[in-house]
Amino acid sequence: MSENSKDAIRLFGVTKTYGGQKALNNVDIAFYRGEFAFVTGPSGAGKSTLLRLLYLAADFTQGEILVLNRNVKRMGRSGLPMLRRKIGVVFQDFKLISSMSVFDNVALVLEVAGKDRKFIAKKVGHLLRSMGIEGKANALPQSLSGGEQQKVALARALCGDPEIILADEPTGSLDEDAASVVMNILLDYHARGATVLVATHDKNLIASAQKRVVTLVNGAVASDTGGP
Ligand SMILES: Nc1ncnc2c1ncn2[C@@H]1O[C@H](COP(=O)(O)OP(=O)(O)OP(=O)(O)O)[C@@H](O)[C@H]1O
Ligand SMILES: [Mg+2]
Repeated sequence: MSENSKDAIRLFGVTKTYGGQKALNNVDIAFYRGEFAFVTGPSGAGKSTLLRLLYLAADFTQGEILVLNRNVKRMGRSGLPMLRRKIGVVFQDFKLISSMSVFDNVALVLEVAGKDRKFIAKKVGHLLRSMGIEGKANALPQSLSGGEQQKVALARALCGDPEIILADEPTGSLDEDAASVVMNILLDYHARGATVLVATHDKNLIASAQKRVVTLVNGAVASDTGGP
């Protein structure tokens, strides 16, 4: 297996089974550094499963996965958190911490990384403003609308300046205007050099961006179009 440094992510024959059922079936795919791509396909096709594997949040049954040239199966316990720090993730169900304010949810990554308070306040303030939710900084997540929570999840994913963003249905709870704000934030972030993967059903979102579209059906790549 050769390691190609142009790739941010590479999967070789990856299969993931739940019980007897294959959520991903022998997937070979690569995303290069700095690429923006959509992953689409019907409900149950394996989009979230793929993103979870790339975030190193689940084991897989067969195959190999390289993330930033590291074989994730061969990473020790200390290597995994280091690699994860380079990946920002927006989960389909947000996974915000309910006992912490919006500000603290977003700031947590920076606090863990040992950044000073001034830096954190500036960075988090900027991100919340860019999404129009600065007025919610002190609120608890459960007091926010679904769309606002989605924006908090995105701010949290971006705040550590990760090299890779994995966004699972990042506009799923948003109206059209808010979806386009979020999409523009992701495109801006991509323009600064990040690799961005967006799992979505949203055909309008995909059509508006003119980017690579990988379609999964029954856990396999059914089509892969529009890439550079
Ligand atoms: N934790 C789990 N336990 C058992 N089966 C699972 C689990 N997670 C996913 N699956 C199954 O794996 C398959 C792929 O699920 P996945 O969540 O990846 O689909 P998806 O493409 O993200 O769908 P959606 O568009 O609804 O979000 C589905 O058949 C699902 O039922
Ligand atoms: Mg999903």
